[in-house]
Amino acid sequence: MKLGTLNLSNNLLLAPLLNITTAPYRRFCRSFQNIGLVYVPMIYTQRVIKDQRKIEYDLALVEKEKPISIQLIGNEPEAFKSALDHLESYKHDIININAGCASLRSLRAKQGGYLIKDLELLQKIIDSVTKYSSRPVSLKTRLGYANIVNISKFSSIINNSNLDFITVHARKVKDRFDQKTLDLETLKKIKESVKIPVVGNGDINSPIDAKNLIDYAKVDAIMIGRASMGNPQIFSQIEDYLSKGILKPQINDILLMKKYLKIFEKIINDFVRDVTLKSSIDDYKFKELKRNSIWQTKYLPNSTIYRTKLSKTKSLQELRTILNQIFSGDLIKN
Ligand SMILES: Cc1cc2nc3c(=O)[nH]c(=O)nc-3n(C[C@H](O)[C@H](O)[C@H](O)COP(=O)(O)O)c2cc1C
Repeated sequence: MKLGTLNLSNNLLLAPLLNITTAPYRRFCRSFQNIGLVYVPMIYTQRVIKDQRKIEYDLALVEKEKPISIQLIGNEPEAFKSALDHLESYKHDIININAGCASLRSLRAKQGGYLIKDLELLQKIIDSVTKYSSRPVSLKTRLGYANIVNISKFSSIINNSNLDFITVHARKVKDRFDQKTLDLETLKKIKESVKIPVVGNGDINSPIDAKNLIDYAKVDAIMIGRASMGNPQIFSQIEDYLSKGILKPQINDILLMKKYLKIFEKIINDFVRDVTLKSSIDDYKFKELKRNSIWQTKYLPNSTIYRTKLSKTKSLQELRTILNQIFSGDLIKN
């Protein structure tokens, strides 16, 4: 399918999640199914300009993950321009502007979600990035800051820009992640008023949520973030439901957890072979595997016991010991 100028295998996108959707994680999710587009989570424009080593690490081997987007966060049009120059040699397919991040750090620095409050600045940044980027450009934002954005002003900026598409997380910045605040009605209005494709995002936890969002807001594509943590196959489950009406229940058990972690570890091993890490391989593996082990306990009976034990581990060796106890059933016997 086409999303803006990009040719994608489907209309399902893996959201950028800082410190979560790392290269091994993105590869892990993709190992089960097609995912139209994945993102390197936000990179500060200032960091790109000042600390090349850090970005080399964030962007290691992106050429092996195509199609892939790099996301930039910042608040100075000039800094975006310089950052683009620094990124030129990487083989990413598209640049994304972060205008939705709700973290206090970003808001205090007047970037991320702040941009949906300051539409003049947003426009300047879009103009700068679309002018100087050699790749297509997209924007990721929310419905507004403390209040819903002025839709006619917002859509006029979008419709007069050279953006390829926009992604809209269907809540306001100040709502952060409050479940009660998801607002598909406003997402639908934004979709109706912009002329470029819209990707809908927010709380898609199942194939049914995905279909509801598409049917209701008539968006062109959807983006899934947190629901992939613990259910990396959610994209194929959604695709099966959307294209064939097949709804497979999500069954998490110890055997599946074991299988997922084995696949994940193999992917980490392949990745670290070709990359210079900031820490030792064991430390790197430990961090990646620990996070993922905890998510894989989602929906399991005794999940709390497993999570508590796993979260207290301090080394790869300790993690392996606890995992072996979980897999053998010894942890709940003791
Ligand atoms: C831990 C975490 C990290 C995130 N990091 C980013 C980020 O780097 N860039 C971004 O645009 N959004 C980021 N987001 C927002 C997600 O991309 C997404 O918009 C949000 O989680 C809603 O989608 P979901 O309900 O499918 O998770 C982050 C969200 C979480 C929970």
